[in-house]
Amino acid sequence: MTGKAQALYRRAREIIPGGTQLLSKRPELMLPEQWPTYYRSAKGAEVVDLDGNTFLDMTAAGIGATVLGFADPDVDAAVKAAIDQGSMATLNCEEEVQVAELFLELHPWAEMARFSRAGGEALSIAIRIARAATGNEVVAFCGYHGWHDWYLSANLAEDSALDGHLLAGLKPKGVPRGLTGLMQPFHFNNVEEVERIGKEFGPRLAAIVMEPVRSSEPTPAFLNAVRKLADQSGCVLIFDEVTSGFRINNGGAHLVYGIEPDLAVFAKAISNGFPMAAIIGRKKFMDSAQDTFISSTSWTERVGFAATLATLRKFRERDVSKHLQRIGRKVMTGWREHAAAANLPLEASGISPLGHFSFQVDGAQELRTLFTQMMLDRGILAGSSFYSMYAHTDEHVDRYLTATREVFLELKKAVDNSSVRQLLRGPVAHSGFSRLT
Ligand SMILES: Cc1ncc(COP(=O)(O)O)c(C=O)c1O
Repeated sequence: MTGKAQALYRRAREIIPGGTQLLSKRPELMLPEQWPTYYRSAKGAEVVDLDGNTFLDMTAAGIGATVLGFADPDVDAAVKAAIDQGSMATLNCEEEVQVAELFLELHPWAEMARFSRAGGEALSIAIRIARAATGNEVVAFCGYHGWHDWYLSANLAEDSALDGHLLAGLKPKGVPRGLTGLMQPFHFNNVEEVERIGKEFGPRLAAIVMEPVRSSEPTPAFLNAVRKLADQSGCVLIFDEVTSGFRINNGGAHLVYGIEPDLAVFAKAISNGFPMAAIIGRKKFMDSAQDTFISSTSWTERVGFAATLATLRKFRERDVSKHLQRIGRKVMTGWREHAAAANLPLEASGISPLGHFSFQVDGAQELRTLFTQMMLDRGILAGSSFYSMYAHTDEHVDRYLTATREVFLELKKAVDNSSVRQLLRGPVAHSGFSRLT
């Protein structure tokens, strides 16, 4: 079914270390040797692979980037217009200031904004600002925040520091050993760990970095504890809204929980897949960006700003987050109902637009691989996560859930007959990110 893709990916692995630029797009994580891997075109919620097969995409929405859907007509029109008017010049584009105004309007606590192009990169900028502003170096963190040295250095102290935060056993090779001991991990909703870090490292803290919400809702006690620690120690509370932003409301998710950080970082959703990231924050911290050196030619390019303006305007006009939540809830409810009907133990978690499930059986990874294979046979891209897009319609969800119901029944039969491995036409999927947030 996907002959061209398999040959191309084999070649890619020879000339591109790791095969792809983003771990989450590796086909081995979904369905080794069978996943379509490459797309020829993508529109709405559908993709066409290199062999001309069309699939309904019920996976992770461009890994969280295409919240409106693939090739959104309004965003793409704005981008094309920006290109026609010149996407790069020696002067700055006016959209830069317009995007800053829009972010500050949506987040009244923030007074200044900077921009870059990728989530992890923007987090690095936020950390640099926090370290410059406080003169401190220690960072308390929870969850995943990118690939840069400051983050990966968590694994220098002891190899397992990132276990449960990113990939178990992740190797920090290439990260200077001089960064050892600067990262202090804590778990989501764990007040005790936050307080312990405060006692041990309070005066040395530069920042606390976390997502305001991800797999579960934050408790008020947890949010109060991180805010209190930042206030008492004078460090910078940074909310990573790269994936949580613009999913449950029109702005950072923190607005819903009534807690104000000192800096917030956005990427992915804000520009519907065009590279763009924003760092917003209080003037007293953001101004420190001038006391260090944070600067790049590509951050001035016009397409990212034009895409962001068009995306954020559409979010507001169409009440996109409401749709994302409704579609996400429908999918999650379907998982639970169809698994229960098939007598297949399954746990669903995550906020509604960023849902996830896991089979609660021995050999769960084999079973999830078989689920993906059987859904692919039905023309649907599906894994254990579903990120809703504005382009996902009720008809898409109904088609997906009808297939899911059938497949769950077949999976149950395969578990009972111990034939899961036998039914797989290729290797079992590798397990990737196991974020424990
Ligand atoms: C919470 C969070 N922070 C940072 C990143 C890194 O963003 P990027 O892949 O754009 O560098 C991601 C990406 O998955 C993320 O989910």
